[in-house]
Amino acid sequence: MARVRKSPSSAVIEPLGSDLVALAQAYALDATTFPHCSLPPIFGDDAPPAVWIARADRGGAVIGFVATRANRTTLEISGIAVDSAHRRTGIGRALVRATTRSARARGFSSIELHVSTGNEAAVALYARERFRKARRIEGYYSTRHFPDGGDAWLMVRDLVS
Ligand SMILES: CC(C)(COP(=O)(O)OP(=O)(O)OC[C@H]1O[C@@H](n2cnc3c(N)ncnc32)[C@H](O)[C@@H]1OP(=O)(O)O)[C@@H](O)C(=O)NCCC(=O)NCCS
Repeated sequence: MARVRKSPSSAVIEPLGSDLVALAQAYALDATTFPHCSLPPIFGDDAPPAVWIARADRGGAVIGFVATRANRTTLEISGIAVDSAHRRTGIGRALVRATTRSARARGFSSIELHVSTGNEAAVALYARERFRKARRIEGYYSTRHFPDGGDAWLMVRDLVS
C-alpha cells in the first residue's frame, strides 16, 4: 500500500485508488476548474498511481488532484487543480512533489506538461519546482477558454542529472 504524506499545509496527499466518493469529488473539482476533462477515464487498482489526490485531512473531502500519464520515458502531468478555497497553502506544490517522487521511483527521465502562457499561478508553481520552459506552442488551447491566443508553454523537469 502506498504511503500517505502530509503536505506543508497539513493536507493529506495520497493515490486516488478505488474510493468512489473521492473519485466523484476529484471529477467534480476537474469539471469546475477546467473547460476540458483532465482526469483519465479509467483507474486500475494495481496500476502505478496515475492520480494523486489531496484531502484536507485523513478521510476528508478531496481538495486537489494531479493526473498523470506515462509517455515512454516521460511522465506527463495532464491536469492539476486545487480547490479555490485552499489555494496558496502549499497543496499544489505537494501534489507536484508527489508526482516527482513517483516518476523517479518508476524510472522516468523527465516530467513534462503544457500550461497556458497566461496562467501565472501554474507557471510560477512549476518554475519553483524546477520545470523549465522548453518551448512555446502557438494555439495549443482553444481561444474560447484561454488567453494569449491559446498559446501554451511546454515545461519540462529533467530527472536525470
Ligand atoms: C496552479 C494551482 C494548482 C496552484 O496550486 P496551489 O495549491 O495554490 O499552489 P501552492 O500553494 O502549492 O503554491 C506553490 C508556489 O507556486 C507559486 N504560486 C502558486 N499560486 C500562485 C499565484 N496565484 N501567483 C503567483 N505564484 C503562485 C508560488 O511560488 C507558490 O509558492 P509560495 O506560496 O511559497 O510563494 C492552483 O492555482 C489551481 O488549481 N489553479 C487552477 C487550475 C490550474 O490552472 N491548473 C494548472 C493547469 S496546467
